[in-house]
Amino acid sequence: MLAELGVPAEQIHTEDFGSQRKPQARAAERVGVEIDYSCRVGMCGVCAVKLLSGQVTMETDDGLDPDDRAAGKVLACQAKASEGVAVEA
Ligand code: FES
Repeated sequence: MLAELGVPAEQIHTEDFGSQRKPQARAAERVGVEIDYSCRVGMCGVCAVKLLSGQVTMETDDGLDPDDRAAGKVLACQAKASEGVAVEA
């Protein structure tokens, strides 16, 4: 739109927010477990599930509130299992 208005390209600057990497299906989706999601970058919390056993790491857990963390929830879109895990989904 700016180009159509005659704004020179060198005067147009853009800024992106969010993850640059699109997470790849490596856990639940690969084995056919459907878990609700929205952002898939750890921000919304829609994908929170209770970790029943095992260990996971997450790049971010911003989508979890203190009660979620205390309840042992993890973000399925971010969680990377270092061993076999069980979740309540
Ligand atoms: S889908 Fe938004 S935090 Fe996982």
